[in-house]
Amino acid sequence: MPALFDPILLRDLQLDNRVVISPMCQYSADAGSASSWHAMHVGQLAQSGAGCLILEATGVAAAGRITKGCLGLYSDANERAFAALLESVRAWSAMPIGIQLAHAGRKASSQRLWQGDGPLAAAEGAWPCIAPSPEPYDEGWHRPEALDREGMKSVIGEFTQAVARAERLGFDLIEIHAAHGYLLSEFLSPLANQRADEYGGSLENRMRFPLEVAAAMRAAWPARRPMGARINATDWLQGGITVREAIAFAAALEEIGLDFVCVSSGGNSAAAKIPAVPGYQVALAAEIKAATGLAAMAVGLIVDPHQADEVVRSGGADMVAIGRTALDDPRWPWHAADSLGVPLDVAPQFARARPATWPGAAFRKGG
Ligand SMILES: Cc1cc2nc3c(=O)[nH]c(=O)nc-3n(C[C@H](O)[C@H](O)[C@H](O)COP(=O)(O)O)c2cc1C
Repeated sequence: MPALFDPILLRDLQLDNRVVISPMCQYSADAGSASSWHAMHVGQLAQSGAGCLILEATGVAAAGRITKGCLGLYSDANERAFAALLESVRAWSAMPIGIQLAHAGRKASSQRLWQGDGPLAAAEGAWPCIAPSPEPYDEGWHRPEALDREGMKSVIGEFTQAVARAERLGFDLIEIHAAHGYLLSEFLSPLANQRADEYGGSLENRMRFPLEVAAAMRAAWPARRPMGARINATDWLQGGITVREAIAFAAALEEIGLDFVCVSSGGNSAAAKIPAVPGYQVALAAEIKAATGLAAMAVGLIVDPHQADEVVRSGGADMVAIGRTALDDPRWPWHAADSLGVPLDVAPQFARARPATWPGAAFRKGG
């Protein structure tokens, strides 16, 4: 079995190791365009030593952003801002950079995390939301409009236009956001999808729209570049999506030509209780990996280098995504490589802080 710092090939893209920085909303964009916050945030993570960085959930339409501060890739201005961001980061880092393309569905038009994390009020500039069914996410949340066939076609067009922009920008990889109770996840989950037509009810019907989106996106993305999806393996609630259903969805994504799944969970109901234990989603990733030919990415409370290495060595997943771990310690992959005894190239500007040249490394708390 490979180990955490072994390279992995996804189509023509080689990741030098299997640590991926998980997409994390920063709520700091301006009308969907990356800001100087992103230059700092992405810049520092591009020096982390991880094998790949996947940019935060990026709305394929203005109305598909979670908040007014979320990134978008629906306008020429958004595209220009990404071009400038990527140019400055790539001048100093060869790390592959992916983008997570998303539509927030009934959880769009929300407040930033630190401004309440609830639905926007009309006075705050709330906008209309769409979903598979006209049911709000929770009490007091927006009542979305149920998508009709025309609406679905235009959402597919928004996703494929964003793929074309991502191609022009030279992103290395695309992750489709089909998890966490956003639009595609809402179609998949019986908790959000109560449709009586061919897009609701049976798993085959609930998968139909997400698969239409994924097929159109894959067709619009160059064959040599990898595309994957973040999916939910459970809603942590009776009546929600099951791992058996997630396996069927993942297999259908594989059929379409996707290369990997990042296995996550939750977000379709505020009532779900998500366990906060180390690696709480790893077993779900392992089940999906075992049942399909897709590369699997495990995520969720993976904080220790040996834990991460074991996830890969045991065959539970092919890659490990780290979220808050990377915010807490942006150089975590350096430290992981050190504790696993693996050499790692770093930018020459920072090389003097490596254990070989910095005596202080031996005195650092935790070794
Ligand atoms: C600040 C923050 C923003 C996040 N934004 C996204 C996002 O844009 N897309 C996504 O799929 N997950 C998002 N997540 C979830 C993380 O990618 C990750 O799956 C989750 O935090 C569990 O991993 P961790 O325990 O390593 O943080 C976010 C998490 C945090 C903490």
